[in-house]
Amino acid sequence: MRRLAATVSVITCSEGQQWFGLTATAVTSLCAEPASIIACINSASSVLPALNGSRRFCVNLLNTEQHAISNNFGGRLKGAERFSEGQWEVGEGGVPFLAGAQANLFCELDHSIAYGTHLIVIGRVTQVHFAETVAPLIYQNGSYAGTAPLAASF
Ligand SMILES: Cc1cc2nc3c(=O)[nH]c(=O)nc-3n(C[C@H](O)[C@H](O)[C@H](O)COP(=O)(O)O)c2cc1C
Repeated sequence: MRRLAATVSVITCSEGQQWFGLTATAVTSLCAEPASIIACINSASSVLPALNGSRRFCVNLLNTEQHAISNNFGGRLKGAERFSEGQWEVGEGGVPFLAGAQANLFCELDHSIAYGTHLIVIGRVTQVHFAETVAPLIYQNGSYAGTAPLAASF
């Protein structure tokens, strides 16, 4: 899996006034009709009760400047402290989202499937914000990286 390079996301949700979030690389697009994504979240994660309750969440795709935010949501900080860094705003249904991320995919929980230690969450995308600049934060071989186009790929 260290060879499976992936964009780093922070998945956020809320329950009342309380915000929750975790870092995830196990996120992928599912299909365009309907617009949907899959995320694989550990069943023990602190976000799941709120996510299952509100049935809304946001997938915030991080950029290369936001690796500290990835570490915060990846376990360095706990609970609401995780939101201490970055410009967090409130979207539809009270879901927190990271302004200035590569993209914010606002989702409704459509379906989930338990498998092993994880829950495969299918989110129907209801709204999208995205940045003009393309600079995704990549996690590969246990550390962060950026991307660079290949000079002679065509
Ligand atoms: C780069 C990175 C990618 C991660 N990807 C996932 C993932 O796809 N799914 C997951 O459940 N946890 C993933 N984690 C681990 C969680 O972010 C971490 O365990 C976090 O502390 C969970 O929050 P919780 O303890 O409040 O539930 C990842 C962590 C990092 C640093």
